[in-house]
Amino acid sequence: MDPITYKAMVVEEIEKNKFTRQIRELQVHDLPDNDVLIRVLYSSLNYKDALSATGNRGVTRAYPHTPGIDAAGMVVESRSPSVQKGEKVIVTSYDLGMNTRGGFGQYIRVPADWVVKMPQGLDEKESMIFGTAGFTAGMSVFKLTQTLTPRQGDILVTGATGGVGSMAVAILAHLGYSVMALSGKPDTGFLTRLGAKAVLPRKDFLADTASPILKPRFAGAVDTVGGDILATAVKSVKQDGIVTCCGNVASPDLPLNVYPFILRGVSLLGIDSQHCPMGLRTLIWEKLAREWKFQGLARIYEETDLHGLNGKIDQILKGELKGRTLVNLN
Ligand SMILES: NC(=O)c1ccc[n+]([C@@H]2O[C@H](COP(=O)([O-])OP(=O)(O)OC[C@H]3O[C@@H](n4cnc5c(N)ncnc54)[C@H](OP(=O)(O)O)[C@@H]3O)[C@@H](O)[C@H]2O)c1
Repeated sequence: MDPITYKAMVVEEIEKNKFTRQIRELQVHDLPDNDVLIRVLYSSLNYKDALSATGNRGVTRAYPHTPGIDAAGMVVESRSPSVQKGEKVIVTSYDLGMNTRGGFGQYIRVPADWVVKMPQGLDEKESMIFGTAGFTAGMSVFKLTQTLTPRQGDILVTGATGGVGSMAVAILAHLGYSVMALSGKPDTGFLTRLGAKAVLPRKDFLADTASPILKPRFAGAVDTVGGDILATAVKSVKQDGIVTCCGNVASPDLPLNVYPFILRGVSLLGIDSQHCPMGLRTLIWEKLAREWKFQGLARIYEETDLHGLNGKIDQILKGELKGRTLVNLN
């Protein structure tokens, strides 16, 4: 029998620019009229979800809304020949959780071309420990490792205890790279246990960085925060270094000059997981399921249910969380 109701987090605007979050019972038939209905078993919390959950119109235009840019579960109904009932699947990004009801609910209904079949080597839970953060770290690692080998020197990872940062630290260390983890948090054990060779305090990194170009220290960098930190990373990489850029939690601005590019041949590569084409998307998930699946996966997350998610949303906005937050929808 088809499901009729399900539980979901609902973000509502109760007065102008004042938002509440509640767990509500919703009707499956009210989900958008897309081809594939999925019973969500796990989701995860990403920075973008917290923006959606607090009324950021750059992420979500209209409320009431259910955030959650990540979902993994089982297909319950499909009108598409490419997706079969009973298949285990992953859906991340596109418009999920932005303006399409997302993974912070027990059901989603999405277009068939958003659906990734669960790769062998991952289950629903593991895929959501990675989630968009792990996928974005994977895209960053993929771009970096096209050019840089472990022998070329240290790789800097910024926002290192965050979702994307911690995943990048762990994957790079697993692949044999020497990782320098940049963090604003005092506890360094979390990062060294993930494989970081050293932890650089954020305030030291930003001291004395005004020069147009700095001493070359790193072969490359995975930046997750933007602003002065990204600018300093670009100015601090060696000849032909590669820097990836995916986030803006510190700032969307980039106070830079052209010298790192014209004097050292540095490349700054953008990462956009939302519009990643399906071919590369599938390849990244397969790598996460196999050669990038690191041993400490079980140590990088905390699990919560929909009720516990509320507090985690406030924490991620303050940069207080470490690693990943897995959301169990059972
Ligand atoms: N382009 C894409 O496709 C894509 C995909 C996923 C995420 N993102 C973006 O990537 C960024 C990180 O996402 P996330 O999910 O990893 O977020 P997160 O879990 O909140 O991690 C961000 C980390 O950045 C550091 N940080 C926080 N505030 C900071 C500040 N003011 N200055 C410097 N560092 C600060 C903190 O780490 P430390 O305390 O260790 O420094 C924090 O844990 C976000 O901007 C997100 O929107 C982009």
